[in-house]
Amino acid sequence: MAYLQTDVTKVTTRVLQNMKLHGEKIAMLTAYDFSMARLLDRTKIDVVLVGDSAANVMEGYKTTLPITLDEMIVYASAVVRAINRALVVVDMPFGTYQGNSKQALASAIRIMKETGADAVKLEGGEEVLESIQRILSAGIPVMGHLGLTPQSINKFGTYAVRATEEEEANRVIHDAHILEEVGCFALVLEKVPAALAGRIAKEVKIPIIGIGAGSEVDGQVLVLQDMLGITQQFKPRYLRLYGTFGDDISAAIQQYISDVKTVAFPNEKEQY
Ligand code: KIV
Repeated sequence: MAYLQTDVTKVTTRVLQNMKLHGEKIAMLTAYDFSMARLLDRTKIDVVLVGDSAANVMEGYKTTLPITLDEMIVYASAVVRAINRALVVVDMPFGTYQGNSKQALASAIRIMKETGADAVKLEGGEEVLESIQRILSAGIPVMGHLGLTPQSINKFGTYAVRATEEEEANRVIHDAHILEEVGCFALVLEKVPAALAGRIAKEVKIPIIGIGAGSEVDGQVLVLQDMLGITQQFKPRYLRLYGTFGDDISAAIQQYISDVKTVAFPNEKEQY
């Protein structure tokens, strides 16, 4: 299939808007380090998200809450050094934007200045509107995130699918419209019914990127290590495995151990 935006040398928020207009789906994946980001940069991936899922994937925490702004900046600047084409979006970590719009702006400015990323993402709707407005007023593009918002896991008490009841579904619709009106360039919708996500994608003009939100949205995002089969213990229904690299890595390491023990490595050509 010929993609409409293949010739684009740098994906911008405007390119994403065009993709939505022309019905070309947006492909987004996470990255947290230079080596993986280099592999992503060899492809035509549209958006690279330095997600606060780094707290789980890179640091082994059960939730995304503990990761700090300093840590996100280290991960994000490594990713930015590797990426030429994709739009790089950085998650604002828990506690750096909620309830204090001045702090939100200061956090977003640090991310943009110290990493060279293209945009920030933050979780929530009306309750974080003031923070979003202030960040946008500094010319920093903001991606919203509604539905399952993992930074609120202690409020939800579960990672189960959100907005299955009318009241919450209406709130998500309301928030999506508010985030569009205030000027977010795109929204992530996480783990909501496909029909709801499809309805929102039709109603708003900005791209809706789904994760566990069905196919009627404008694009998809997955955590890279999940879809590659590296984070093997995490298998939600929405996840499609595009590889079994966890098993491949373990097998390679097992072979290395065996070669070292049997002195099959190094051989004559592998020494000086
Ligand atoms: O942190 C993250 O990786 C995310 C995606 C799951 C959307 O927010």
